[in-house]
Amino acid sequence: MLRSIHAVPYFYAVITKETIDRIMETARVEEVVGDFVSLKKRGSNYIGLCPFHNEKTPSFNVSPSKGIYKCFGCGKAGNAVGFVMEHERFTYREALKFIAKRYNIEVEETQRSEEQVQQDTVRESLYIINGFAQNYFHEFLLQADEGRNIGGSYFRERGLNEATIQEFKLGFCPAGGSVFTDAAIAAGYQHELLKQLGLSNDQKRDFYRGRVIFPIHSISGKVLGFGGRTLSADKKVPKYVNSPESEIYNKSKVLYGMYQARQAVSSKDECFLVEGYMDVLSLYQAGITHVVASSGTALTTDQVRLIKRYTKNLTILYDGDPAGVKAALRGLDISLEEGLNVKVMLLPQGEDPDTWVQKLGAEGFLEKVSKEKKDLIHLRTSLFLEEAAGDPVKTAGVIKEIAFSISLIPDSIVRSLYIKSASTTLGLEEQILLQEVNRLIRKKAMDKLGKEDRASAESVPDQTPTQPERKPHITFHFDEPQEKDIVRLLLENSNYELEGENAIVAILRNLEDVEIDNNLYKQVVDEYRKFYEQQEFLSQSHFINHEDETIRKLCLNLLQSPYELSDNWEKMHEVYIKDKSYLVQKDIVKSISILKLKKVLRMKEEIENQLRQLQQDEAASQDMQHAMEDIRQLQDFIRQLSEVTGTVVMPYTRNK
Ligand code: UTP
Ligand code: MN
Repeated sequence: MLRSIHAVPYFYAVITKETIDRIMETARVEEVVGDFVSLKKRGSNYIGLCPFHNEKTPSFNVSPSKGIYKCFGCGKAGNAVGFVMEHERFTYREALKFIAKRYNIEVEETQRSEEQVQQDTVRESLYIINGFAQNYFHEFLLQADEGRNIGGSYFRERGLNEATIQEFKLGFCPAGGSVFTDAAIAAGYQHELLKQLGLSNDQKRDFYRGRVIFPIHSISGKVLGFGGRTLSADKKVPKYVNSPESEIYNKSKVLYGMYQARQAVSSKDECFLVEGYMDVLSLYQAGITHVVASSGTALTTDQVRLIKRYTKNLTILYDGDPAGVKAALRGLDISLEEGLNVKVMLLPQGEDPDTWVQKLGAEGFLEKVSKEKKDLIHLRTSLFLEEAAGDPVKTAGVIKEIAFSISLIPDSIVRSLYIKSASTTLGLEEQILLQEVNRLIRKKAMDKLGKEDRASAESVPDQTPTQPERKPHITFHFDEPQEKDIVRLLLENSNYELEGENAIVAILRNLEDVEIDNNLYKQVVDEYRKFYEQQEFLSQSHFINHEDETIRKLCLNLLQSPYELSDNWEKMHEVYIKDKSYLVQKDIVKSISILKLKKVLRMKEEIENQLRQLQQDEAASQDMQHAMEDIRQLQDFIRQLSEVTGTVVMPYTRNK
């Protein structure tokens, strides 16, 4: 999951401490909050209706003197930056920039190489040009005769009204050939950049000529690219053409409509996923605004994570033939792996969400969906079982496949609920499914820990789909002091460079195969992971000012504790240290190794317990062999980790 981290540049665009301080000093919490919530003065404080939960009497409190807001209804609390992060679902960095803009504070960023500055300038220009194009197409649709007669009638025919056209900034590209390109060049934009964005070709012809335009927005509303639909019924003409990938447009990270849907997704705590532009627009116009589209491609991990920023409840609306749907359902494992709660609604044959909502109206539509949507795993179980139709070999394949999907679910409680219900559907003893799921989880963890391929040693059934890049789940119980130590490492070392790599990146990379069990520490680590995946910088002050009080306290505590690298290090290692980064590196290696050692020891214990159980079961000799093999391998890890940490671990004794 953190694979992208390796590709991250070593230096980040960091908002300078001076700027952050200025923003913090200048921002008045009541003003920032007041932009979103209407507040009434009550004594020295302000009150209003909480924007984070539904209420009729105000329990949302803003204290100018303390610089914080707090809702006594839902418990949300924080400072001005925290408010913007929560309300707009911005990252820390986005929130700072947002507030800076409100107060006209110039944002200073440091640690940028020449090259990066250059690249930023290009990116900035690309955004500007796309913005220009969006406006041009939109105005052309609304103002020009050609736009109104052709594009306008088309949208009207499809049932879209003026408000929807405005909200999504739909447009029309003139059919003339190079009308748009000429206008853009006349406005001073380089043809080279128009080409990069796929707006214009080598011959300066308009790429979208004669098509209606659907701009694709980032979650902050920037124009990343376009989709253009032909109005021709000619089957040889591609129905939609889309912007190519560019410096600013990465298809796999974008969901069409998220900019418009994000508030509704968050407040409804559910996201509808559909396939097409028109599906989003029709549902939105009908008042079903928590809807986004994957634009005809399979859902990616990045898109799943984007949804996860706003809700954990994903409802996928599928149209299409049963065979296609089955294939698509297989591709949804990533959403389980990310811990989403996935429901699937299969539309009646021949309908897509656009046509169906126009038929049923919003209310009828929503009612049908809420009544008929099925849980992803249940749906898959029953569909595949139906297909296997009593054939024992096929049925076994289905069981393995379902077990595999369940093994991906990170939350062990959710997992066990699925095991329970899926075993009923499959007509299987719960214990059998449980064993298979546990075997898969263990195998994955082992594969990850030992980099070599153990496939030959394991009897991996052919039916087990193997997908690359899986997150391991070494889910064992508390390792509190060690896990806390990891949080300390992250907090302390954000400014260190280790062999040209930012220390946080190094830490996260080394934690890639480790799951943190303690919920609080996990929250902090996950927050780091999330931000770093997006190449965002997280400073100590983010955590010191964290909206979650428990996290705030933990971090303050850790940073105030007198923990210092021991002077002993120097003597112990008989090295003369000029550079503290050497010590930092040692600290990281040691802390992470101890954590891993603890976890591996637990894991070994667990497998040993299983082994003891298996010994009572004569039929389980193969499982026993696997377990013993696993133990041997763990023994090896333990030895290696012990060397690094200087810990003595008793050797494994086979017979008790
Ligand atoms: P559909 O063919 O289902 O189109 O493709 P649609 O959205 O229902 O459009 P209408 O109702 O016919 O106007 C679903 C999505 O797949 C992508 C588009 O994002 C489209 O919205 N697609 C489809 C393409 O990118 N290119 C194509 O040629 C076709
Ligand atoms: Mn359609």
